Amino acid sequence: MVLSAAFILYFIATFSLTLKHFISPPYQYILSPLKSTVSPTNLSHLVFGIIGSEKAWHHRKAYIESWWKTNVTRGFLFLDKKPKAALLPWPETSPPFRVSENLTRFLNRSGVRAQRMVHGIMEVFNEDHEDLRWLIMGDDDSIFFVDNIVDVVAGYDHRKYYYLGGHSETVVSNYLFSFNQAFGGAGIVLSYPLAKALANDMKNCLRRYAFLNSADNTTRACISDLGVNLSPHMGNHQAIIDLHGDISGLLSSHPVSPLLSLHHFDMVDPIFPSMNRFESARHLMKAANMDQSRMLQQTICYHRRTNWSVSVSWGYSAQIYERIMPRSYLQIPIATFQPWIPSPKPPNFMFNTRQPSRDPCEAPHVFSFKSVENNGDAIVTRYTQARRRALPACVSSGNHSADFLSSIRVLSPAKKRIEVL
Ligand SMILES: *[C@@H]1O[C@H](CO)[C@@H](O)[C@H](O)[C@H]1NC(C)=O
Ligand SMILES: *[C@@H]1O[C@H](CO)[C@@H](O)[C@H](O)[C@H]1NC(C)=O
Ligand SMILES: *[C@@H]1O[C@H](CO)[C@@H](O)[C@H](O)[C@H]1NC(C)=O
Ligand SMILES: *[C@@H]1O[C@H](CO)[C@@H](O)[C@H](O)[C@H]1NC(C)=O
Ligand SMILES: *[C@@H]1O[C@H](CO)[C@@H](O)[C@H](O)[C@H]1NC(C)=O
Ligand SMILES: *[C@@H]1O[C@H](CO)[C@@H](O)[C@H](O)[C@H]1NC(C)=O
Ligand SMILES: *[C@@H]1O[C@H](CO)[C@@H](O)[C@H](O)[C@H]1NC(C)=O
Repeated sequence: MVLSAAFILYFIATFSLTLKHFISPPYQYILSPLKSTVSPTNLSHLVFGIIGSEKAWHHRKAYIESWWKTNVTRGFLFLDKKPKAALLPWPETSPPFRVSENLTRFLNRSGVRAQRMVHGIMEVFNEDHEDLRWLIMGDDDSIFFVDNIVDVVAGYDHRKYYYLGGHSETVVSNYLFSFNQAFGGAGIVLSYPLAKALANDMKNCLRRYAFLNSADNTTRACISDLGVNLSPHMGNHQAIIDLHGDISGLLSSHPVSPLLSLHHFDMVDPIFPSMNRFESARHLMKAANMDQSRMLQQTICYHRRTNWSVSVSWGYSAQIYERIMPRSYLQIPIATFQPWIPSPKPPNFMFNTRQPSRDPCEAPHVFSFKSVENNGDAIVTRYTQARRRALPACVSSGNHSADFLSSIRVLSPAKKRIEVL
């Protein structure tokens, strides 16, 4: 092979081919298809309720503004108190704010943070429920991929009672709260009748569960009292990020299902090298704004001449391993991160993990998302090496070093990824 300074790899239209290997359980059986008499669900049927605090808003605002579209996204930011002068005039790029009702007297207790979030469901509903189909509650350190949310909820009948959301990645969190709970910060998604029923029962709900100190747990308990449980949600993924540290391992081996949200952005390392958290959020949204349907979708292919395995997490990273590895293996995230609450002994995570390794045949060369462009026929994402792997080549698979590779370009069709059912 000719060694050149900038060897560029093209992977043309590999997406539809490789995705065949990811056929997952048949979601259509668990979805209740929307009858054709109802118009298709679009973004204007969704209303967001973001729970924030006045104190944190000046920096959390960057996360929300990375995905919020002025005059397009519907919803409100609920603050614990009126914004101070420095935050005014309120910018158009932020969601309109409301001040949460003061529950101190009603609940006769001082700590009402969790209850404020639950009560927020009613406040959002009362503010704006015209043509509302789905009400989505989330935290101010979450990033939502609204096009994907629309695609996923559009498959459900909003006239029925649905409670959608994701589990924590950390086993102990699900154990301590509930395996039937939508972890709130990343988005609790409620269909219209359920949101309405909760709003109607809100005062009773808060009184009944005044002893609980967590918003998502209280919400689950109240929803359960209405006879509704968390729906299976294999067809989508919320990165709850109940994790600490470097989450690149998880984001690089994301399941092939639409990414709906990323939570706890403030709790983890910045997701891109040499960028801070806000820059990272904005950078990630550059890819998302081009094509949300492919965000973080993992594609795996092989370069036989060099015995390389290539794994691409669209819009985030590309990795080259210097030996052929089965797809089932590459789909397992490398545990670069730590659990939110460690278990006394394994398992810590709700999925299998691989241990990070310094073995040249095991450790990937990591490339980070650099740029995206639509050239008319294809969307081209480019990934560049952030830091050298600093290891010799893998000898047992032919000693083909990938060290000289500086950039990887991935071509994908300039149209939405078709869901594999
Ligand atoms: C969404 O659908 C409604 C019909 O239910 C329609 O009136 C509205 O224009 C649509 N909005 C967008 C943004 O497509
Ligand atoms: C948003 O809507 C307001 C009120 O209709 C209007 O004044 C403003 O120009 C709009 N802004 C954008 C960015 O569309
Ligand atoms: C809420 O009301 C209590 C008294 O009922 C008051 O002490 C507290 O300051 C109020 N909180 C806010 C944020 O206004
Ligand atoms: C409020 O709580 C305090 C202390 O927890 C208690 O002494 C008081 O009686 C309560 N008031 C009402 C109206 O329940
Ligand atoms: C969650 O709520 C249940 C009651 O529904 C309670 O038993 C459990 O202790 C709560 N967990 C946490 C962590 O608050
Ligand atoms: C690929 O690796 C195998 C051993 O796993 C080796 O036998 C083969 O020669 C290698 N091919 C190339 C092109 O280096
Ligand atoms: C592997 O390649 C490197 C660099 O080309 C070379 O220095 C080394 O001797 C090779 N090792 C083997 C075992 O062939």
